[in-house]
Amino acid sequence: MSLLRALQSLLLATTVSGSLLLPRQANSTNSTSGYAVKTPPLTTPWTYEVGEHPWPQYPRPRLERAAWQTLNGVWRYENASVPQAIDTPPFNQTLDNPVLIPSCLESGISGVQGTFNIYSWFSTSFTVPSNWTAGNRVLLNFGAVDYQATVFVNGQRVGQHTGGYFAFTFDVTSYLSASGGTNELLVFVFDPTDSNPYVIPIGKQTLTQSHIFYTPCSGIWQSVWIESAPSNYITDLNLNADMHGNVFGAITTSQNASTSAEIAITARNSSGSQFTHQVYANQNFSFNYPTPDLWSPDTPNLYDISITLGNDTVSSYTGFRTISRGVVNGIQRPLLNGEFKFFFGTLDQGYWPDGIYTPPNMEAMRFDLLTLKKLGYNTLRKHMKVEQDLYYQACDELGLLVIQDMPAMDPLHYFDTPNCTAEPILPNATQQAEFQRQLEMSIRQHRNYPCIFTWVIYNEGWGQATQPPWPSIALTEVVRALDPTRLVDAVSGWFFHGAGDYLDNHHYSEAQCGAPVYSINSAPYDPAYIGIQGEFGGIGMNASIQNLWPVWEAVKTINQTYEINVSLDSWRFRGHQLIEDLRMQIEMYACSGAIWTQTTDVEGEVNGMLTYDRRVLRPDVQTWNSDVNACYAAGAARTNSSMSMMGSMAMN
Ligand SMILES: *[C@@H]1O[C@H](CO)[C@@H](O)[C@H](O)[C@H]1NC(C)=O
Ligand SMILES: *[C@@H]1O[C@H](CO)[C@@H](O)[C@H](O)[C@H]1NC(C)=O
Ligand SMILES: *[C@@H]1O[C@H](CO)[C@@H](O)[C@H](O)[C@H]1NC(C)=O
Ligand SMILES: *[C@@H]1O[C@H](CO)[C@@H](O)[C@H](O)[C@H]1NC(C)=O
Ligand SMILES: *[C@@H]1O[C@H](CO)[C@@H](O)[C@H](O)[C@H]1NC(C)=O
Ligand SMILES: *[C@@H]1O[C@H](CO)[C@@H](O)[C@H](O)[C@H]1NC(C)=O
Ligand SMILES: *[C@@H]1O[C@H](CO)[C@@H](O)[C@H](O)[C@H]1NC(C)=O
Ligand SMILES: *[C@@H]1O[C@H](CO)[C@@H](O)[C@H](O)[C@H]1NC(C)=O
Ligand SMILES: *[C@@H]1O[C@H](CO)[C@@H](O)[C@H](O)[C@H]1NC(C)=O
Ligand SMILES: *[C@@H]1O[C@H](CO)[C@@H](O)[C@H](O)[C@H]1NC(C)=O
Ligand SMILES: *[C@@H]1O[C@H](CO)[C@@H](O)[C@H](O)[C@H]1NC(C)=O
Ligand SMILES: *[C@@H]1O[C@H](CO)[C@@H](O)[C@H](O)[C@H]1NC(C)=O
Repeated sequence: MSLLRALQSLLLATTVSGSLLLPRQANSTNSTSGYAVKTPPLTTPWTYEVGEHPWPQYPRPRLERAAWQTLNGVWRYENASVPQAIDTPPFNQTLDNPVLIPSCLESGISGVQGTFNIYSWFSTSFTVPSNWTAGNRVLLNFGAVDYQATVFVNGQRVGQHTGGYFAFTFDVTSYLSASGGTNELLVFVFDPTDSNPYVIPIGKQTLTQSHIFYTPCSGIWQSVWIESAPSNYITDLNLNADMHGNVFGAITTSQNASTSAEIAITARNSSGSQFTHQVYANQNFSFNYPTPDLWSPDTPNLYDISITLGNDTVSSYTGFRTISRGVVNGIQRPLLNGEFKFFFGTLDQGYWPDGIYTPPNMEAMRFDLLTLKKLGYNTLRKHMKVEQDLYYQACDELGLLVIQDMPAMDPLHYFDTPNCTAEPILPNATQQAEFQRQLEMSIRQHRNYPCIFTWVIYNEGWGQATQPPWPSIALTEVVRALDPTRLVDAVSGWFFHGAGDYLDNHHYSEAQCGAPVYSINSAPYDPAYIGIQGEFGGIGMNASIQNLWPVWEAVKTINQTYEINVSLDSWRFRGHQLIEDLRMQIEMYACSGAIWTQTTDVEGEVNGMLTYDRRVLRPDVQTWNSDVNACYAAGAARTNSSMSMMGSMAMN
């Protein structure tokens, strides 16, 4: 492979810490569990620090209970090979291989690193802690399983969940060992990804990788845990807090009764005077908390929440902030706490060479976010993936606004045609209804996080109808009804049909943002919408071989990058030039926000702030920071401009 050698000889960029961190060698098998990391094509600094007790944190900070126990760790796995396997579950058997949970079966960290993991069995066992309150329910929680999970406890089928990015809970009390002994947990996972004829939300996963389509994730890729809850327990919490101190939402309980509950609010950074308010579950509540310190990327003030409903106590948190849309100096703007500040972020895919969808650990996950903060960004666009809850908590705590994509159905490629060409496959009515069901799940499960300010329904034409009726129009109303507190980007890029708050251009490499120009991939600015640049940049620079995903399907497509720079100096020059061009558009026209492609390299894409292994940071931090800050200043100058045609501010 001469290309690899050529790449190897290319200039090596400066490293994150100034010194090169070489990948460590794979560790030996733990003789007790049999588990060992399978050496992935590329490691990160954290690959061999995961150990056998991954993700020990409580996984659901929006609704946390004190009595819980993680089931993360080494489980057993077996390729089930055929769909009929579900009819004969391997109860009381030792499955073939050890597997680390949570992980994607395709990842090195899983210990399996398999391909075509369509039907799989997973097993483990657990005991319920003896000090959990007698008579309480035992809830079994999964953060996310890609794509469909069927759960069995002690030989009995408990339930099934469909949707690869979303949390689900089963009350397993009646299935547990009566004597308090060991319980067997068996999970059947079905994950077709993009195999024929399935058209399901998968984002950028594909069974046939190339350039912008990546390795899939199959299996239990987020945390699993059990917890103890009384018979009437809180099943869902919809909690909002705005800039005026209004706290509103609804508490849903397992028993549909109008039970009273007490909400206690404590400012995280104060000496702790507690504010309490009585509300009722299973109906909307609303009350006022006087003079809160507001949340913003610059001041990520958070408030701890404790809710007591009968014998159930859960903790949560919130941030007081208001997202709205208004006209400032004659221009449609997104507003945070009534003010416009330009938002600037990266396209953030959340892929890892060693974990695929699952970051190796908390430190690794936060490293990406801290890197964005260090470069001056105030936003990220979570692209085609939904992360674990701890990720959104980290964004809330660090102060990063999040634009949340719905993972698209089948990407615009499909190789099963008789002539082996790539053809777009669009959803039929059943598949479209399932997409909507999962979109609603995404919003219900994430609307508590203050950092999220915009929901994206479609990315470009991915999974979107090519003729009317345009599904983005009805889906925008569905999203608004579920969450009236945020903005909606109905279609990010290209195929805009008039719904939602934004007119969002994608234009590589240079931006065309809120400007009176158009070209093949972008429309001119329409003053009825907020003009943003949902993707731009994307300029590449070959990584040296030790920082590159050395898989031929990926490497051979690197030349499809919009633009490749052969030196770090030229990459940095082009970055500076493109952001400077954006800055001028902000100053002159109606550009309200921009997303640079992207946070990290991913497989065959070499256009990240960081390489895929997180060992090399391409930008010069000081220059990039001042370029990004110049965009914020340009936004502020446009807002205050005396040249404005209309001086008043309106909010709707
Ligand atoms: C496993 O990895 C750790 C950390 O890299 C190292 O200290 C240890 O010696 C390794 N164990 C074996 C058996 O190779
Ligand atoms: C090895 O596996 C055993 C059993 O699962 C576990 O208790 C132990 O912590 C593991 N050792 C390491 C170093 O992870
Ligand atoms: C699982 O079995 C299927 C069907 O036999 C096979 O195509 C696939 O490669 C297997 N996957 C793994 C990870 O063994
Ligand atoms: C139950 O026991 C565990 C382990 O000893 C302990 O960590 C936990 O705090 C106890 N929980 C309760 C509710 O007493
Ligand atoms: C598994 O083994 C246990 C202990 O021998 C037995 O009680 C149980 O019935 C078995 N489960 C199934 C589904 O066969
Ligand atoms: C459940 O609660 C809602 C809201 O209080 C009420 O409208 C509905 O009738 C209740 N359903 C049942 C079955 O009690
Ligand atoms: C609760 O508020 C939502 C809007 O947030 C509204 O759609 C719903 O009708 C309200 N429910 C009740 C019972 O008032
Ligand atoms: C809140 O306190 C933490 C820890 O003391 C500190 O790191 C953080 O910056 C504070 N946040 C604000 C908004 O003051
Ligand atoms: C709380 O638990 C106690 C004892 O476990 C029980 O007597 C009481 O009825 C419960 N209260 C409610 C509101 O469910
Ligand atoms: C390939 O086959 C598909 C139908 O399977 C057809 O729609 C498409 O036009 C064909 N493409 C070419 C280039 O012939
Ligand atoms: C959509 O396609 C799937 C897969 O081929 C099929 O099972 C389903 O019945 C179809 N639904 C409609 C409405 O055609
Ligand atoms: C990519 O382009 C470069 C420069 O033209 C060339 O040297 C290299 O062979 C190309 N790689 C592939 C896989 O085509």
